[in-house]
Amino acid sequence: MAFLADALSRVKPSATIAVSQKARELKAKGRDVIGLGAGEPDFDTPDNIKDAAIEAIKRGETKYTPVSGIPELRKAIAAKFKRENGLDYTPEQTIVGTGGKQILFNAFMATMNAGDEVVIPTPYWVSYPEMVSLCGGTPVFVATTQENKFKLTAEDLDKAITPKTKWFIFNSPSNPSGAAYTHDELKALTDVLMKHPHVWILTDDMYEHLTYGDFKFATPAEVEPGLYERTLTMNGVSKAYAMTGWRIGYAAGPLALIKAMDMIQGQQTSGACSIAQWAAVEALNGTQDFIPENKKIFEGRRDLVVSMLNQAVGIECPSPEGAFYVYPSCKGLIGKTAPSGKVIETDEDFVSELLESEGVAVVHGSAFGLGPNFRISYATSEDLLEEACKRIQRFCAACR
Ligand SMILES: Cc1ncc(COP(=O)(O)O)c(C=O)c1O
Repeated sequence: MAFLADALSRVKPSATIAVSQKARELKAKGRDVIGLGAGEPDFDTPDNIKDAAIEAIKRGETKYTPVSGIPELRKAIAAKFKRENGLDYTPEQTIVGTGGKQILFNAFMATMNAGDEVVIPTPYWVSYPEMVSLCGGTPVFVATTQENKFKLTAEDLDKAITPKTKWFIFNSPSNPSGAAYTHDELKALTDVLMKHPHVWILTDDMYEHLTYGDFKFATPAEVEPGLYERTLTMNGVSKAYAMTGWRIGYAAGPLALIKAMDMIQGQQTSGACSIAQWAAVEALNGTQDFIPENKKIFEGRRDLVVSMLNQAVGIECPSPEGAFYVYPSCKGLIGKTAPSGKVIETDEDFVSELLESEGVAVVHGSAFGLGPNFRISYATSEDLLEEACKRIQRFCAACR
């Protein structure tokens, strides 16, 4: 009898965590490494949010909370969806989880049966297919192209849907490409989804507040109210409020689905940390001044990175609308010989040679299902980004 579950054979470890780990190990050995692998803001959580958590501790908010979240936070979430997305949800239609990650997991766990398919555009956030597989479903990948700025076309979405499709996962702005869909681009997709009433939509709006220039964020149930009854709108405080470690994510959707997710959570974590929930109440209800300030900083970094990468031989880097990632192509380097003498055959070779040669840690595109590309997280200082891009330019110039 095997000790480990068969389900484990269906998943692989996170490539993004692996890259961060490798960078840490090299640093520990004394190498000068710039890590551009991590997907978290480098800013500290704003003081008003920290203070709310401290106050919650002092008030003794240290007990189990209702499984789906404290009423104050569920009310704040419903108000956020109304205020920012024009979506009407009652607090009972919302649920709080231990990060957006757990919300997604609960949604799949609550709905997935063997043979169910989940349509996932590539490049995708690494956890989507693994979560689907762990819950017994089948990921169905639909490729986007760099020419179409990594955005799914209506035609390709339509072709990917079968009678077995249970969910379509939508993520805009995207991790890893940074691509964000305008209202009209999204409408083209929601028109397709209206033709397939058996398909549910899981929209991961985690990077909603990180869009640049005059780009206007849109979410499926807002663009097409006809999809409201089969859409789970997921979001969280990790990226917008620099709260990755607090582990608070949330979602809103049809009551029956929320109740099913509550049931799973009740047998799993009993709900998110009480103190972090009070911090999230302040994040959603308190001042939002922090958001535009950070956006400005991220936008400057994006422009710097895009411009410097496009000056590297063999690299092509589109300028994405949002998140804090760029997803350049390294196609021009494939077939060349790195300074170590190794021939670069894949994007994985490219990133590993770059790390060896110049100490810059990035994640290969094939980990996100589309290459030859690589992902850079620009959630770090301009000085470090400039130095990292100089090293990438030097590495590319040295490849023969
Ligand atoms: C697209 C996307 N969704 C969800 C998450 C999960 O966020 P958290 O669990 O920190 O709320 C992440 C984190 O990297 C992400 O990039």
